Amino acid sequence: MALSTRYGNGSTAVISDDVSCRIQNVTVKYKLDNGEFAAIRSVSANIPSGKITAMIGESGSGKTTLGLAMLNGVSHPGRVAEGVIEYTGVGDILSKEGEELRKLRGKHVGMVFQAAQSSLNPLKKVGSIIIDLAKSHGYEDPKVLIRSACDLARRMSLDPDRVLSSFQHQLSGGMRQRVSIILALILEPKILILDEPTTALDILSQATVLKVLREIQEERELTTVLITHDMGVVAELSDQVYVMYAGKIVEEGNTSELLQNPRHPYTRALIQAIPRLTGDRSKAVPLLGSPPEISSTPNEGCVFAKRCAFRLDICEYGETPRRITDDGHQYLCHLNEEGLA
Ligand SMILES: Nc1ncnc2c1ncn2[C@@H]1O[C@H](COP(=O)(O)OP(=O)(O)OP(=O)(O)O)[C@@H](O)[C@H]1O
Ligand SMILES: [Mg+2]
Repeated sequence: MALSTRYGNGSTAVISDDVSCRIQNVTVKYKLDNGEFAAIRSVSANIPSGKITAMIGESGSGKTTLGLAMLNGVSHPGRVAEGVIEYTGVGDILSKEGEELRKLRGKHVGMVFQAAQSSLNPLKKVGSIIIDLAKSHGYEDPKVLIRSACDLARRMSLDPDRVLSSFQHQLSGGMRQRVSIILALILEPKILILDEPTTALDILSQATVLKVLREIQEERELTTVLITHDMGVVAELSDQVYVMYAGKIVEEGNTSELLQNPRHPYTRALIQAIPRLTGDRSKAVPLLGSPPEISSTPNEGCVFAKRCAFRLDICEYGETPRRITDDGHQYLCHLNEEGLA
């Protein structure tokens, strides 16, 4: 079926009353030796309650920076240059500081950091880390968190006694990554940001962790933001997806619709680049070129133009139109579904 394309008004595809977080026109810049450059460019996104929202893009596309901004955790040499990140019932986290901000983090919005396997306190056993966590978040009895950690450890195929009595160096990378997820989950945040939660895991552990994350998300109706570069993880776990390139969201919508009907040439390239385990492996098409550095991303025109196989002269100039497809997802491109500008 040929889809007609409508022009969007800059709003995000996910329109729902039940939104946990609204990211509005957020720009984040980093100061480098040769100037200050944007890593996130006027990004807007809605994070719906009780769903899994994926943010996907190549290395350097700004995923972690956006996750940090959602915690108001961007620090020098970075700064949030503009925008609002509004949590329902809490307000704009970018305007919070001190004790108020500290209490929001972990309890209202938690984050499992990328390379979390090396972010545990090396001087403390996991059990002591949990007791500290309980104290700093005002739990009278740390046993509540310990019990919850043991339960989650079992579900993630870890031996709870072994884990609680170990220092981080006594655990494998994959074990540490699971422990970091457990530490974030025991505080029962309303919103959980997972930055590449399964990259250190072998394929079987990854399957276990993804299954447990999906179960817990359903049990708790947890609002989850899943940051990943892996389209397979997006397909398996997420309800909706934002595709990022060079600090911009270039396509967004319901995951199954977007994967069935990808519109932006970058999303198509990401999908085509997935090596297939069954069938003809040679059909995987690598995406040529490398993602731009923040200092060399053009301020005008489409951010993907340089690598786009369908580039037209107009792509290099002005503002790229936002298009809305009949299945309701949105993308930024001069080309419509028929390939016409
Ligand atoms: N502390 C920093 N100082 C300077 N530039 C930074 C800093 N952190 C990130 N950047 C730059 O901002 C851009 C976005 O980085 P970010 O880490 O958010 O990307 P990412 O999508 O998470 O990448 P990856 O998949 O490799 O984790 C990159 O060009 C990066 O070099
Ligand atoms: Mg990252």
